[in-house]
Amino acid sequence: MPLPIEHAREPDSNAGRAELARVEPYSLRTFTPTQAVLSQSAGVYHWTPEGRRLYDFTSGVLVANLGHNPTKWLSAYSRYMGWGESLPASTAVPPGFTAAVPMTAYNAITPVEVGATTRLLKFMQAAPGGGRIEQVMWAASGSEAIQKALWASLALDRTRPMIIATRFGFHGKKGLANAVTGSETDSERDPRVRFISFPMAECRDVTMREEPFDFTPYQKELDALLHQFGAKIGTLITEPYLGGGGSYHPPKGYLQGLQRFCRANDIVFILDEVQSNFGRTGAMFAFETYGLEPDVVVLGKGLGNGMPVAAAVGRADIFGALGYGEGSDTWSANPLCCAAVLATLDEFAARDVIAGMKPSSAIIERGLLALKELPFIAQVRGEQGGMVWGVETRDHAGRTAGDWANALVLSCYQGEGADGIHLLGPLAKKVVRVSPPLVITNDEATASLALMLRCARRLNT
Ligand SMILES: Cc1ncc(COP(=O)(O)O)c(C=O)c1O
Repeated sequence: MPLPIEHAREPDSNAGRAELARVEPYSLRTFTPTQAVLSQSAGVYHWTPEGRRLYDFTSGVLVANLGHNPTKWLSAYSRYMGWGESLPASTAVPPGFTAAVPMTAYNAITPVEVGATTRLLKFMQAAPGGGRIEQVMWAASGSEAIQKALWASLALDRTRPMIIATRFGFHGKKGLANAVTGSETDSERDPRVRFISFPMAECRDVTMREEPFDFTPYQKELDALLHQFGAKIGTLITEPYLGGGGSYHPPKGYLQGLQRFCRANDIVFILDEVQSNFGRTGAMFAFETYGLEPDVVVLGKGLGNGMPVAAAVGRADIFGALGYGEGSDTWSANPLCCAAVLATLDEFAARDVIAGMKPSSAIIERGLLALKELPFIAQVRGEQGGMVWGVETRDHAGRTAGDWANALVLSCYQGEGADGIHLLGPLAKKVVRVSPPLVITNDEATASLALMLRCARRLNT
């Protein structure tokens, strides 16, 4: 069992880390060399119990797209939950209770759910590429929503149980979501799943989105699977970019080629936007950025800006293939999460968050590319005009890429004086992801990237 992480001059944080190391299994977290203790947050900032301020370069894990605890979001949320409202005077509320929207309403329907479902559909249908958006299948986490999307697609035609997934993708750790994650070398592979290559080698500095792309080798892989399994293949699932796999952002031609193959062979095309949704790629949805029209889009993370809500959204005939109860569980469509979706939609409707982030996106991109002056930085990949990048390290001076990546995360956390940067442990052992809230200002972007460069340079001495 690893020893609890400790940092100098952090008595309260160290006490919290030590306590949880005793009473929680360490598997509850992925390794990060900092293990920050976060006691308060606002906008792009976290504060540690010792009062140090950290720029949040993670947004949770790409969740708090609108920043932490946005005031208007919080008041809209309370309003949707009916907190602070009273029933008509003629109705007696039992003492000790407050009349409000029920926090849980299993199998019943609440107006807040009706609102969230209809508003989300309208919002997505209005987006270019939203032409197949007809129904919402709610879930409480990204992996559950992926499972429900796959269950529905499998149920659409039970004679077509084979699923194609893109190699080294990440769709979650549970059940079928895990089965379509990774590659065929991972253990306990589901025999229904076959993988095809993702053009990782062609994903170089920042995005190659607009570059001409030769789909021929990928078409060959797809044709070979078709030759082997024929009409048994009913589903294809991919992420728009490999997120958890290490921030690989492909040319449009790759994803469009996959969609073309699905259309030609009547295969359900599922786009996993759990991570990319609500602005990360520089448009509200990655299907807009990449010029796609998926049969099912899977949403999560930023959908609730911090509340645990996810959804598979798409063709009604696909979701209609599941019978009563097959998509139900305790938490899906619960009012607390529906209110969060409504508050999030309100914020995106009230102002052009995406246009607002373009200048700060450019500042961050420039700042990250500047890190390439350091011999241990290999590549900076990401979404141009968006808010997600991966900084890949390389082996250098007798230290592995992974050592450099962890050292960078730690150095940024230590920062300078009262300020630091919150990052997670590296993806794929050597990629440090940078994904601040979309609402980071130009000044915050400039200051935090300058700090990051100084922290990185410190390692090179
Ligand atoms: C693209 C993608 N799909 C699915 C998931 C799984 O989501 P969750 O952790 O909410 O189950 C993730 C989580 O990181 C993700 O990035």
